[in-house]
Amino acid sequence: MTMTEKDILREKILHLKEKRNAIILAHNYQREEVQDIADYSGDSLELSRIAASIECNVIVFCGVNFMAESASILSPEKTVILPEITACCPMADMITVSVPRNLKTQFPGYQYTGGYKYPADFTLKDIKNLHPGVPVVTYVNTTADVKAESDICCTSANGVKIVESLDSARVICVPDRNLSAWIAKNTKKEIISWDGFCHVHDRITTEDVIRVRKEHPDALLLAHPECRIEVCEMADHVTSTSGMLRFAKSSNVKELIIGTETGLLYRLRKDNPDKIFYPLRKDMVCPNMKKTTLNSVFHAMETMTYKIKVPEEIRIPAKRALDRMLEIK
Ligand code: 13P
Ligand code: SF4
Repeated sequence: MTMTEKDILREKILHLKEKRNAIILAHNYQREEVQDIADYSGDSLELSRIAASIECNVIVFCGVNFMAESASILSPEKTVILPEITACCPMADMITVSVPRNLKTQFPGYQYTGGYKYPADFTLKDIKNLHPGVPVVTYVNTTADVKAESDICCTSANGVKIVESLDSARVICVPDRNLSAWIAKNTKKEIISWDGFCHVHDRITTEDVIRVRKEHPDALLLAHPECRIEVCEMADHVTSTSGMLRFAKSSNVKELIIGTETGLLYRLRKDNPDKIFYPLRKDMVCPNMKKTTLNSVFHAMETMTYKIKVPEEIRIPAKRALDRMLEIK
């Protein structure tokens, strides 16, 4: 049997994994071949938990930069490698600690919705000054310095639980306006939201839902809380990517419409060969999540690039916010 180029790359990666005592983590949105080579794939919460507890010298994080940063914050003694240094999350960059944003130049498609009362050049410091003493819950999709300025982190899997755990009737939630709206709908607390969004999920409209439901009348619709609130309200279940994996496995329903990045369809189909999965929209593709290839994983492990390290003065307060989240079961 002749080996393909991919087989050869895989062999080389496995060899380097042994040599470096490395663990490969892949987010559920990664390319199929990257998910296949990973030791663990999962949602942001699961991968943070693994990064905090796994024994190894090197973590190769196949995802976007804030994920590798979180791994380094939680496990500073390990070398954390992000194979593609430009793999970033535009939503994470929609909030800064003190440098005024200029979202229109930064993100040409950006439109201030006016739904929240903060000027487009507001910073996290400004919003904290406006609401002194109100705890800040930061979605993990943020840079380390934003986490460092926060009381606690959350992911799409635990946002409501985290907000409920706080001893305050008012809570600031940054940066995703859609996740914040979903949390607000599911808690009695007052949520002070930011106006960031994920361009992959925010593009879904109620018209898309009506169309896809017409096309697949017997299917259930699962939506990620990064989708707009009116889309979440039309869904049968709203959950994180791994929540969708669990739901699909345990459900008796044979057809499911998946309202998140299309990379998740690979695992869903692999785990449930008897079920049919449809993307809510075929263009729900995160270009940053797709930057990492088998080739980049091999190159990263061979050259040990790109090392992600967070300065101690940021890492320690950021770790506090992440640890508080991880303590909540
Ligand atoms: P989860 O896998 O935690 O649901 O995260 C979604 C996401 O957009 C990560 O970038
Ligand atoms: Fe960021 Fe959205 Fe891409 Fe996740 S899917 S990395 S939230 S842009």
